[in-house]
Amino acid sequence: MNAAGRTGLDRMPEWHALAKHREELGEVDLRELFAKDPGRAERHTVRAGDLHIDFSKHLITDDTLRLLRELAAATDVAGLRDAMFRGERINTTEDRAVLHTALRAPRDADIRVAGDAGNAGNAGNAENIVPAVHAVLDRMGAFAERVRSGEWTGHTGRRIRTVVNIGIGGSDLGPAMAYEALRPYATREVEIRFVSNVDGSDLHEALRGLDPTETLFVVASKTFTTIETITNARSARAWLLEGLGPDTGGEAVARHFVAVSTNAAEVAAFGIDTANMFEFWDWVGGRYSYDSAIGLALMVGIGPDNFHDMLAGFHTVDEHFRTAPPEANAPLLMGLLGIWYNAFHDAQSHAVLPYSHYLGRFPAYLQQLDMESNGKSVDRNGEPVRWQTGPVVWGTPGTNGQHAYYQLLHQGTKLVPADLIGFARPVAELPPRLRDHHDLLMANLFAQGQALAFGKTADEVRAEGVAEELVPHRTFRGNRPTTTILAPRLTPSVLGQLVALYEHKVFVQGAVWNIDSFDQWGVELGKVLAKRVEPALTEGAGVPGLDASTAALVARYRELRGR
Ligand code: F6P
Repeated sequence: MNAAGRTGLDRMPEWHALAKHREELGEVDLRELFAKDPGRAERHTVRAGDLHIDFSKHLITDDTLRLLRELAAATDVAGLRDAMFRGERINTTEDRAVLHTALRAPRDADIRVAGDAGNAGNAGNAENIVPAVHAVLDRMGAFAERVRSGEWTGHTGRRIRTVVNIGIGGSDLGPAMAYEALRPYATREVEIRFVSNVDGSDLHEALRGLDPTETLFVVASKTFTTIETITNARSARAWLLEGLGPDTGGEAVARHFVAVSTNAAEVAAFGIDTANMFEFWDWVGGRYSYDSAIGLALMVGIGPDNFHDMLAGFHTVDEHFRTAPPEANAPLLMGLLGIWYNAFHDAQSHAVLPYSHYLGRFPAYLQQLDMESNGKSVDRNGEPVRWQTGPVVWGTPGTNGQHAYYQLLHQGTKLVPADLIGFARPVAELPPRLRDHHDLLMANLFAQGQALAFGKTADEVRAEGVAEELVPHRTFRGNRPTTTILAPRLTPSVLGQLVALYEHKVFVQGAVWNIDSFDQWGVELGKVLAKRVEPALTEGAGVPGLDASTAALVARYRELRGR
């Protein structure tokens, strides 16, 4: 379906049917739904690769799901999905294809970017991009092996002991999250550190204790113009040259800096040998890029084989999304349920609660994936949307959250749908004395899902002999919706599957909301203004049109800096 010709979501009969259904449904009681339907848990559980996903603790009936699927059909989610996989330019505001799925396609796949050659929209004449994807993966693999084995040496001939990835946003969050998630799979011979913030403290701390002769920098930037990254890369270069001595120069930079970018000209201008540049393409969005060359530092850490296992995991869920019927399509259902709460329950946020210490950075990674993709308020035609779009995504590892903000999840006034993510087995490398922790960890996950869904009635509280005045305080209303995602173990493949699941969930929501999930114009204004304000801070230069509040803050800042 052509997005331009699409009826506004809130004018579609399927949308109205959902609104009416919500009204008729009223307050759903999960205790009741489970009590009268013994097959509910099984019926609302789907499999995607190794992921066992239980949707039964949602405020839904079979009718809700049917109506949501009808909405997906009416908004042609499947049509847009197929267009994405086919390489059509569905990122219309940037006129780009959206082909992160090609990054994990098998070597013999054939994927072409529509309009790259021949007639616009005719993919037939364009070149197959899969060989180029695999050529880069092969180069990455060879490079990663050289660094891991010690064959790649620094300027003085010493092996590399630390790789520092300099990047921000999608050029940091994905590899940093995955490196932490897959720590048990990483070599301890080479440590990977990540620097993103333009706050000099970030680089300062990352370089602490490092020997420049044994340090390699990966400058990861799709555009190679991002001010934070280029500023950090320049300072890292200065640190290196200072450490190596006054006689070193370009040659040393070439041994200690490699780049990941789509912009060869800027990479060369920085002084990095383009022979040491790992390429990716404009059809990979920054927040969808960690399985591209942006994952180079990660690959050095976990090794090419594990990286390929991760890609295979992504591909498994890509195939699931592409082929599973709507009733059993996990990303589709996750996306639709999010819309159900967002639009019809006034839920403003969505919590992601991994019961895995290694997934500590997963929610932060998802924040960019989801909020940069779907934080939009105009539709594909530039018309203001009259419906809610992307939620605020947040979360931390579940057990820690239990002792912090779960109080609000259980008894607060806000409805916060949440994903509980857990694994049947702890990571393989845990010593036996620590493996017992795992059952306790997972008991917490299951208990929280249960408590959130079914709560504790006033009568149950009374039956425990609680004083009447405390009964309201100790009652849990329940009916707090969760999705439980259970996987055998946090392996590279399972991580790839999880990320792909969320990528496609975000896709589904953007498709229904009729927004462009693949641009990010909303980050531009702040960037432009920062450039304008900086000379005011350093030189006291006037900034044309500076508002009174910011002008006063700038003046006070200068005063505090003694300028
Ligand atoms: O925050 C905006 C953004 O463009 C992100 O989309 C991107 O991931 C990040 O900046 C970094 O961009 P680059 O890889 O070009 O340095």
